[in-house]
Amino acid sequence: MEPMELSHVRKEYSESTLRKKDLSHNPFEEFKKWLHAAKEDPEPNAMQLATTVNDRPSLRTVLLKEVNEKGFIFFTHTESRKGKEILKNPNVSLLFLWKEMERQIIIEGKAEPVSKEKAHAYFEKRPRKSQLGSAASVQDAHLASKEELIKAYEALTKKFEGRQVEPPEDWGGYLVKPTRFEFWQGSEARLHDRFEYVPKDNGWRLQRLSP
Ligand SMILES: Cc1cc2nc3c(=O)[nH]c(=O)nc-3n(C[C@H](O)[C@H](O)[C@H](O)COP(=O)(O)O)c2cc1C
Repeated sequence: MEPMELSHVRKEYSESTLRKKDLSHNPFEEFKKWLHAAKEDPEPNAMQLATTVNDRPSLRTVLLKEVNEKGFIFFTHTESRKGKEILKNPNVSLLFLWKEMERQIIIEGKAEPVSKEKAHAYFEKRPRKSQLGSAASVQDAHLASKEELIKAYEALTKKFEGRQVEPPEDWGGYLVKPTRFEFWQGSEARLHDRFEYVPKDNGWRLQRLSP
C-alpha cells in the first residue's frame, strides 16, 4: 500500500474563547448547555464509549439517551463486547466531538446497569422497525450473510404481528456516573481552552488545563 502523508492536513480553530468565569460550577449544567448548542450537529447525542479489559482498550459509538443528576444513560445489548467488558471493569470513558462547534467533552466514570424496567421502557418508545432490528440481532455474533439477519428480522415481524415487539433477552442500558469531566474548546493559534472538573467536597473543582 502507498503510504499516505497527512502532515499538511490542518484546520484553524477560531470558534470562540472560553473563560473560567463563564463556566457553570456544575459540570452537568455545562454539559447540557454544550449539548444544546450542538443541536445542529447531525447526531449531537452520539458519543464514543471506551472500555478496557486486560489492558486492552476498545471503543465504539453509542447514543446518549438520558442525562440526569446521576449520570449519562445509553442502551445496548448486555451480551455485546461492551456489556461483557463493563461487567469485568466498570471504569469507562465517554467522548463527544462536535466538529462544527470545535468542541469536545470527555467524561470518565463508572458504568452500572440500569433496571430492566427502564431499559424496556426505552425499548417500547423505539420505532417498530428499530425494535425488530434489535431483536433480530445477536449483537457481535458472526453472521454467514446479510440474508441471515434479514430472515431473522422477517421471522420476528411475523411472530410479533399485531402485538408489541418484545425486547431481546439481553436488552439493557447503562448509567455512567462521572468521576471527571473535561471540556475543550478550539481556539486560535492552538491556544485552545481546556477545563477539567473533578469531585471536591460535595461539589466539583474546576481547573483550566494547558492545551
Ligand atoms: C452513530 C452510531 C450510533 C450507535 N448507537 C448505538 C447504541 O446506542 N447502542 C448500541 O448498542 N450500538 C450503537 N451503535 C453501534 C456500536 O457502535 C457498535 O458497533 C455495537 O454496539 C457493537 O459494539 P461492541 O461490540 O463494542 O459491544 C452505534 C453506531 C453508530 C455509528
